[in-house]
Amino acid sequence: MSADSPPYRLVQKLLIKKRKMPHSRLRCLHDKNGTNSHDVPSNFQLLFFAMCRMSSFPWDALERALQNSPSEVILDILRKTCLHPICRQNPPSVKYRKLFLSELIKRHELYASEPLDELYDALGDVIGAKEETVCYKSYLLPSGEPVGLEENVAVISEGTTGLVTWEAALHLAEWALEHPDIFTGRTVLELGSGVGLTGIVVCRVCKPTKYVFSDCHQSVLERLRNNITRNGLTEQGSPGVSVLTEEVDWQNVKKDQLRRIGADTIIAADVVYDPDIIGCLVRLLAELLKCKGQQRHPEVYIASTIRNPETYNCFKNELEKAGLKHIVITHPVTQVFPYNRIVSIEMIKVHC
Ligand SMILES: C[S@@+](CC[C@H](N)C(=O)[O-])C[C@H]1O[C@@H](n2cnc3c(N)ncnc32)[C@H](O)[C@@H]1O
Repeated sequence: MSADSPPYRLVQKLLIKKRKMPHSRLRCLHDKNGTNSHDVPSNFQLLFFAMCRMSSFPWDALERALQNSPSEVILDILRKTCLHPICRQNPPSVKYRKLFLSELIKRHELYASEPLDELYDALGDVIGAKEETVCYKSYLLPSGEPVGLEENVAVISEGTTGLVTWEAALHLAEWALEHPDIFTGRTVLELGSGVGLTGIVVCRVCKPTKYVFSDCHQSVLERLRNNITRNGLTEQGSPGVSVLTEEVDWQNVKKDQLRRIGADTIIAADVVYDPDIIGCLVRLLAELLKCKGQQRHPEVYIASTIRNPETYNCFKNELEKAGLKHIVITHPVTQVFPYNRIVSIEMIKVHC
């Protein structure tokens, strides 16, 4: 599917409408008291299509809005979520939609004297729907254009963590949006791309010359290719950027392959979680940085969710043993995508 093909154009049109939002558009999502009633349905839409946890929705703001016109507000939310054409094309999981509608019904019944037929009809539709192993998430770029991803419902499936988007991928994408110069005009290699969120955002916004997505798992690579195409990027030729998807297994990647890719910028999100693969990841980074005798070293940026500080420290110790230094990037990034910000994420630049 090309950028001009009908499904892609439809998805764009559907979400672009009236959505020229400023960079700070998510602030209201994270400031319960500051959320005004006009933002409520739009905020619900952003959170719903990204399948965010129910507890992250601005329920207090909704309840304030419901006090004046309960059915109107709920209908607006319904039209922006479960009844939105995007939901027909890229639906969040059945279980998620059931939960969402049940919460809306609960809130509506607190303030309205009559049940709302549309709410029960929508719930009826999902109750009758078959639970799938696959679901869709849609994230909006600052331009308002959507990035739509097919993901697995289960966080770990088929023996891999790569079939869902992780928070560090969203953080790295937000950082890239603020630092396009790191990517513009360069060849970028992404390690452990998973379903492709970060790379798709970089390709769509930061103007790299060439972007090489990579992973080692066959189902992940297949899903990645589908998502790349789904977002109007193709290996046959994408507007302004040459896109490739390669199998790169950190444990046995060949130097020839790395030389052929010739990356200027290397990025990775959430690749530091398994102590058993830290060693080969660090050896690969050292090979890519080629600390001796190279005229211009590539730049390496890694975003990690720190779930287990011991594992993360082990990664940093291995970097040191391999003669690599790192700088922690502490500058905060503007919040663009909705995700769980309670997790601790660290970005580092690795260098010789
Ligand atoms: C936690 S997921 C992160 C995916 C994606 N970067 C994100 O943040 O959403 C880790 C990814 O690293 C990949 N991976 C794990 N071990 C690998 C290896 N030895 N070689 C290449 N990729 C590997 C997995 O297949 C998976 O896609």
